[in-house]
Amino acid sequence: MNMPNRVALVSALSLLILICASARAASYGSADGKDIGSFMERLHKGKDSYADKAKKGQLTSTQLQALAKNYRLMMTMNPPKNKTAWRKSVGDLVNATARLARSPSDKGLVAAYAKAADCNACHQRHR
Ligand code: HEC
Repeated sequence: MNMPNRVALVSALSLLILICASARAASYGSADGKDIGSFMERLHKGKDSYADKAKKGQLTSTQLQALAKNYRLMMTMNPPKNKTAWRKSVGDLVNATARLARSPSDKGLVAAYAKAADCNACHQRHR
């Protein structure tokens, strides 16, 4: 392959990668509420989920920091119901998680996280 062709191929490839990456970013940012569902699947659903372990005080500080970061992203999305109260509901969850990250074995902070991450309460308000 001669040099100009190779350059063209490389730039076409990097453009493709760029397009794929931004499509992914865009789907995270979209505000149709479906993305909240994927956060739920990843962080909350099932035994051994992040939420389940956090409620038992079994996450490390680093894991809790990652969880809080994910919740901050979730805060920018729109729930199916009661959009105005969403920032407060998720904000409480972010705060409880960030506080627990600073002292992961504190029983009072574990209980506060469990309260902020109450599945049914939040689903009744926002789902
Ligand atoms: C801060 C509020 C909030 C909390 C706390 C919360 N959820 Fe959710 N959850 C939602 C919202 C809003 C939806 C609806 C998303 C949609 O359909 O757009 C949802 C949807 C779901 C879904 C369906 C996901 C899908 O694929 O559509 C599952 C499963 C779920 N939640 C599990 C849980 C579990 C388990 C807990 C407790 C550990 C929990 N959630 C705590 C707000 C919350």
